[in-house]
Amino acid sequence: VKLNWAERWVVNNPSRVLQQHLEILWYQKHAPARKYAKILEFGCGRGAGARLVRQKFKPDLLCAQDLDYEMIVKAGRYLTGDEKIYISSSVGDAYMFPFVDDAFDAVFGFGVLHHIPDWQTALSEVSRVLAPGGVYFMEELYPQLYQNAVTKHILLHPTENRFTSRELKQTLTDMGFEVNACLEFKLAGLLAVLTKTV
Ligand SMILES: C[S@@+](CC[C@H](N)C(=O)[O-])C[C@H]1O[C@@H](n2cnc3c(N)ncnc32)[C@H](O)[C@@H]1O
Repeated sequence: VKLNWAERWVVNNPSRVLQQHLEILWYQKHAPARKYAKILEFGCGRGAGARLVRQKFKPDLLCAQDLDYEMIVKAGRYLTGDEKIYISSSVGDAYMFPFVDDAFDAVFGFGVLHHIPDWQTALSEVSRVLAPGGVYFMEELYPQLYQNAVTKHILLHPTENRFTSRELKQTLTDMGFEVNACLEFKLAGLLAVLTKTV
């Protein structure tokens, strides 16, 4: 689901960059020590997260994808020519990433899964494109935050098949992800670093 005006304002905002900056510092602290040569960021929005991921994790290649063509146009403007040597941005749907199995050392998803009606299919795609031992860096929100009495009138999200903390964690375990670190804000959302074990 693409963003409505309200959420576009929330994510295309300097305070969002600061939040992602702090989150990436937390990810760095908890990331397994290894080289992250190839990274995918899905639902990259205007590219602010991609810039920070490149600065901190220094991949050889970062593929930044978003379902929304307008976001990719914004990313094209936001990222500098030097950054585009390492970051390739393109339209892509998390239901079917245009990449072979085991293609990436890490996948980042900042606030994307809860925008996807069939989030389980997107998660299985994340697992498919991650190499064994690859790491999934996740930031996600729960419906208690984005579909409460106030936010449901302002924000636009799928309404069926929503995950709470318990369902998300159970599905990740069933898909073979191991939790390296998790910072959870009850009824709001979580940050997690997860390793693909199978
Ligand atoms: C809340 S925004 C987050 C944007 C950016 N990651 C950030 O943190 O600022 C969610 C993004 O996911 C994208 N999106 C929604 N469904 C998607 C899908 N099926 N595949 C890829 N991207 C998707 C939206 O277009 C939107 O840019």
